[in-house]
Amino acid sequence: MPMTDDIRYVGVNDREVDLFEGLYVVPNGVAYNSYVIMDEKIAVMDAVDARFGDAWVNNVREALSGRKPDYLVVHHMEPDHSAAIALFMEAFPEAVIVSSAKAFPMMKAFFGTDFDGRRIIVKEGDKLELGKHVLQFITAPMVHWPEVVMSYDACDKTLYSADGFGKFGALDAEEDWACEARRYYFGIVGKYGAQVQAVLKKASGLDIRTIRPLHGPVLEGEALTRALELYDIWSSYRAESEGVLIAYTSVYGHTRVAAEQLADQLRAKGVKVAMQDLARCDIAEAVEDAFRYDRMVLATTTYNADIFPPMRQFLTWLSERGYRNRKVGLIENGSWAPMAAKVMRAMLGGCKDVTIVEPVVKIQSALNTESAAQLDTLAEAMA
Ligand code: FEO
Repeated sequence: MPMTDDIRYVGVNDREVDLFEGLYVVPNGVAYNSYVIMDEKIAVMDAVDARFGDAWVNNVREALSGRKPDYLVVHHMEPDHSAAIALFMEAFPEAVIVSSAKAFPMMKAFFGTDFDGRRIIVKEGDKLELGKHVLQFITAPMVHWPEVVMSYDACDKTLYSADGFGKFGALDAEEDWACEARRYYFGIVGKYGAQVQAVLKKASGLDIRTIRPLHGPVLEGEALTRALELYDIWSSYRAESEGVLIAYTSVYGHTRVAAEQLADQLRAKGVKVAMQDLARCDIAEAVEDAFRYDRMVLATTTYNADIFPPMRQFLTWLSERGYRNRKVGLIENGSWAPMAAKVMRAMLGGCKDVTIVEPVVKIQSALNTESAAQLDTLAEAMA
């Protein structure tokens, strides 16, 4: 599929995948993007997932119009982009791989060869001259793997951004960019905010008019400006929106009643509220909401002298991803020895600049006059 005279899209839409990375639900699939830059020399930009290797090689052959590729530029070695490298190297025996030093040992580990004699190692600032297109490499370690590089082509002012600025969803999915880009970011890249900030700083020195990520659409114009703004917010752990996420679990419905009552009170005070039942929702949605809003209330039951397992999992996801700078309210339920607030407080203890908003609401089995009054006070404090 031609994009411009020089740049041809050869990526694929994956509508078959059940779980991306074996973990994330992707109701609208996902795209593995790949491009061919046609110039005096020809560069193919990244490979695709193993299940699409043959289709991708065919796309590349069609795009080449009988010419041969000189380079395969590998920005990232996660197999959703790298699995078809060996197939490509067999199909195009004169091609050379261009990638970072850390990528080649990964190739050896995945394919049993690091393509000795057919490789160019690039580091920060190195250039690959294709003709009028010149790729300048920008290292992006831990965004979100150690070997990642991005490349900038000053000819058409384009950044090839690896997973950065990517989203879930096939390219033919009609959906909001931010919604699925946010879920992707906080699920997969969110732990590495400092490293994303470092790349944004380097990118700010470039005149970027187009971003071509490895997943999701090409970003230009207002969409590009908005994506850069959101990446700055997300990677600096600032809240994107004012509002409260109420994340709860409930065994027989009593904790849910308290969570819903709190939501009604907050909405009556004009506060935006998002609710997630952690036993039933997509956890990646709950995680993106936690990072999106400036406040959160956690409501859960005591279970095995601990907390209900989905809440433990949720708090683990948040702390692993550097959850911080937020106000958090707690609601615990327990029929004989409530422990949940103590456990949640301890799990949040490792999160920087998290303020627990008092009072902690203590429910014994079901809301009563005393706990309902605590809920009223918490609603005031959260609003
Ligand atoms: Fe899209 Fe980190 O692979």
